[in-house]
Amino acid sequence: MTSEQLYATVARLSDSLSEEAKTPRYRRIKDGLTRAIERGELPGGEMLPSSRMLADHLDISRNTVNRAYRELAVEGFVEPIERVGYVVNEGLGEGDAGGQDRDGSDTLPRVRWDERLGALADGEVERTRPAGWRSYPYPFVVGPGPEGFPIGSWTRAMRTALREEHRGISLHNLDDQDDPLLVEQIRRTILPARGVSATSDQILVTLGTQHGLHLVAEALLGAGSTVGVEDPGYPDARRIFLKQEAKLVPLPVDGHGVAVPEDLSGLDMVFLTPGRQFPTNVTMTIGRRRRLLAQAGRDGVLIVEDDYDSEYCYSRRPQPALKALDAAGRVVYVGSFSKFLAPGLRLGFVVADPILVDYLRSLRHHMLRHPPGIIQRTTALMMEVGDYGRVIRRHRRVLRSKWQAITEAVDDLFPWPVSGTDGGMSLWVAGPEDLDADSLAEQALDVGVVIEPGRSCFLRPDRPAHYFQLGFAAIDLEAIHPGIERLARFL
Ligand SMILES: Cc1ncc(COP(=O)(O)O)c(C=O)c1O
Repeated sequence: MTSEQLYATVARLSDSLSEEAKTPRYRRIKDGLTRAIERGELPGGEMLPSSRMLADHLDISRNTVNRAYRELAVEGFVEPIERVGYVVNEGLGEGDAGGQDRDGSDTLPRVRWDERLGALADGEVERTRPAGWRSYPYPFVVGPGPEGFPIGSWTRAMRTALREEHRGISLHNLDDQDDPLLVEQIRRTILPARGVSATSDQILVTLGTQHGLHLVAEALLGAGSTVGVEDPGYPDARRIFLKQEAKLVPLPVDGHGVAVPEDLSGLDMVFLTPGRQFPTNVTMTIGRRRRLLAQAGRDGVLIVEDDYDSEYCYSRRPQPALKALDAAGRVVYVGSFSKFLAPGLRLGFVVADPILVDYLRSLRHHMLRHPPGIIQRTTALMMEVGDYGRVIRRHRRVLRSKWQAITEAVDDLFPWPVSGTDGGMSLWVAGPEDLDADSLAEQALDVGVVIEPGRSCFLRPDRPAHYFQLGFAAIDLEAIHPGIERLARFL
């Protein structure tokens, strides 16, 4: 033994070996030495005792010690020196790292991340449902649950995507390109169903709507830009625009969608969900769409259309997208697979003029290069064999039954009328003005019911508290009536 500290380390190793434990002995020796090196008890330059000496001392085989030493060397704690032994590497102990003394006390100030970052532009992200909502028996949350995901067809398509002929897309770095097969499927299947025709250079694949909006906002907005947003509207979009330091102007929504102002000239951009207004679920009428396009054209305003839930109409055919009426290239269309496959896949797309798409592509390149090839190719293959269309038809059937069940349940059980809609995945409920939906949501949790208060959807300063959303996609059909019954007891 060459030093007191080494002696103490070896004594501790001996103690650890005498304890009952499932961990193999070589690992206990390695861990003990690692700790000693990290604490600075075995400083850089110190020789470890020879494996023979340590093995004798601990009364174990030399192989065990040698194995521990080899692992320490692989992890860079020690350096083997031929015919001499193992020496501790420099710069690994606490004292060497420069942040702490050997005794553990801080000598340098901690980084103040709160000061560096400041508050988020729009305060904290407002969460409208509890993190563990899946464990509640009556989750009326907005958005789909994982149950309807087509595991069989997804697995088949992914296996195909890993075949040699697809690996160039699935596994390679695509630089800033997208999977041409997915772009073609979007172009030939999804967009025509929305009345939109586009060339492949007008399509950019994204990691979902959020990402698409982020790119569009980064490209087109800046401090001093003004964006008209639906009020109530989609809070995540608002936050994305605020991040670019844009100013938001509320545009009121009624039963025909957003009310188009006479004059849009103070705005740079309007953000809309015309197919299914979030969160009210109304569809913007054709008359308003035409007026909006004409007014925006006169005033030179860009329009961003979020067409997130186009397929879920239950009593009529979906109306074509606003983009379908856009002869002037004014509308930037943002689509998503979140409501049709799964939000966790993070897949969406933007359709816009090729010059804007090129610009967004280069922004995306410096952020993440491209969405994962394997996800793109798997989705494209599912679409190619028709499975995607089948999945949507099945979702629509299931959602229609749930929509009927929840509409009937609220008609029967709520003390006030709830204005119905003809599609979507949620109801937007306006309670009496003295209803506090935040405390209702809290009380409802006690009887296993999750609802989402609507206050965060409002931009206007008074932010009414008597609205809430009742999602019906993630909850089982059979749970809808009993869940509404429980909720109604509080009303
Ligand atoms: C209004 C609206 N747009 C888009 C989306 C989809 O977003 P993403 O594609 O980022 O999952 C959602 C889903 O929550 C939504 O509510």
